[in-house]
Amino acid sequence: MKLVINEKHTLGRIEPEVYGHFSEHLGRCIYEGLYVGEDSDIPNVKGMRKDVVEALKEINVPVLRWPGGCFADEYHWMDGIGEKSKRKKMINTHWGGVMEDNSFGTHEFMELCEQLGCKTYVNGNLGSGTVQEMSQWVEYMTFDGVSPMADLRKANGREKPFKVDYFAVGNENWGCGGNMHPEYYGHLYRQYQTYIRQYNPEKPVRKIACGPNNDDYDWTDKVMKTCFDRCQKEQHGFMDLISLHYYVFPGGWNNKGSATQFDEDCWYTTLGKAYLMDQYIKGHVAIMDKYDPEKKVGLSVDEWGNWFDVEPGTNPGFLYQQSTVRDALVAGITLNIFNKHCDRVKMACIAQMINVLQAVILTENEKMLKTPTYHVFHMFRHHQGAELLDSCILGGGETGSEEWKLPDVTESVSVKDGIITITLNNLSMTEGKELDIELSEDRAYEVVEANIVSSGDVHDHNTFEEPDHVAEKAFTGYESIKRGLKVALPAASVVEIRVR
Ligand code: AHR
Repeated sequence: MKLVINEKHTLGRIEPEVYGHFSEHLGRCIYEGLYVGEDSDIPNVKGMRKDVVEALKEINVPVLRWPGGCFADEYHWMDGIGEKSKRKKMINTHWGGVMEDNSFGTHEFMELCEQLGCKTYVNGNLGSGTVQEMSQWVEYMTFDGVSPMADLRKANGREKPFKVDYFAVGNENWGCGGNMHPEYYGHLYRQYQTYIRQYNPEKPVRKIACGPNNDDYDWTDKVMKTCFDRCQKEQHGFMDLISLHYYVFPGGWNNKGSATQFDEDCWYTTLGKAYLMDQYIKGHVAIMDKYDPEKKVGLSVDEWGNWFDVEPGTNPGFLYQQSTVRDALVAGITLNIFNKHCDRVKMACIAQMINVLQAVILTENEKMLKTPTYHVFHMFRHHQGAELLDSCILGGGETGSEEWKLPDVTESVSVKDGIITITLNNLSMTEGKELDIELSEDRAYEVVEANIVSSGDVHDHNTFEEPDHVAEKAFTGYESIKRGLKVALPAASVVEIRVR
């Protein structure tokens, strides 16, 4: 098997936002995971956990989406501003029936993004909010002048406007965001987005329309048809992106399966379902191309990842799950797919950042651990802002089960600052694979760094007692050959090799 890389042929920029994250008022994602409050014994800066922020900075979080998810279409932003003791207390009816005291609101989200050094993605409430409420939120956050909302922000201690990079008009409006039909949503989108004013044209707010679930091509078609005509006329983007949500449930919605206990068959089902991302993106992109051949509208896969049964003994509404080597493979497979579609996929947010679904970090009171997925994000960070290179595998075989047939190895390759980053996944649960990497020039290539995420057993995961059981390690399974490298990939591994 050979990986052929044409370094002379670049295929477009991989936007850093493709390595984005999602944080919802769900379980212990915001409260405890990210935010503990200034009075907490857990070390924090303005209420944000120091350990978590430091760990997240190491993976270069490019963008953070908030406050949901389904929570977004029930969230009324005015509940989360002003003096904390006076903020409304309520039950989070969507997730776990726990107290929401609104102590984390707009100002806190902006503070968190500032600490992380990332872009901001705010998800507006279309499902149960008004046009006025959405419009006023944008005015509150972004207007630098005299107005009722800008004055309110100043009275709450923030003189200068915040920077809102992305703003979504509703979430999953085909489901928890209002059970709408696509044409109906499309018309509402046209109306609501009109009042998302660009108060600072130098730093426009990029607008995101609610896109489909999985392979619901009809939704994409009808929303594009209803809305795209205006994109050609508007100066600042009528619809800059449309979302896609796709989760992997190995056993289906009603029988998702354990995060840590699975057999070989389930390994391939999970990886096979993750690999469907490629097919779904191609399907939605074909429809977008029909309306928008110039690719003005980006695809934002702003919820993706594995969704398993919750950890035994935890609140079912908190969606807390462990993360094994299998999750590392799903992350590696998915991120390589996004890279390959960089002409259309302009953003993606793993669900979710902390303590929920395929999290990169888990916490337990003052303890914190990095999951195998975290380590994959750490290796793949070199693709952020790089140019995708033309590459393909020749002579590769197939792996999988009766039902799910998959390529042995998947890859993507990019170049930045003269260094070529190659990321590889060996999807076989049991077999190592050999691969020759062939580059364009007839010379020796120097390996700048090489790393691997793998473990003796695919069920391995990190615990608070053993937080580094599965971690990124130096990879030594390669040797130089003419024009490239000969590589031996261990079974069930994610590998990054950087050469110049
Ligand atoms: O990520 C959990 C939930 O999954 C989100 O709130 C919702 O958008 C999706 O259905």
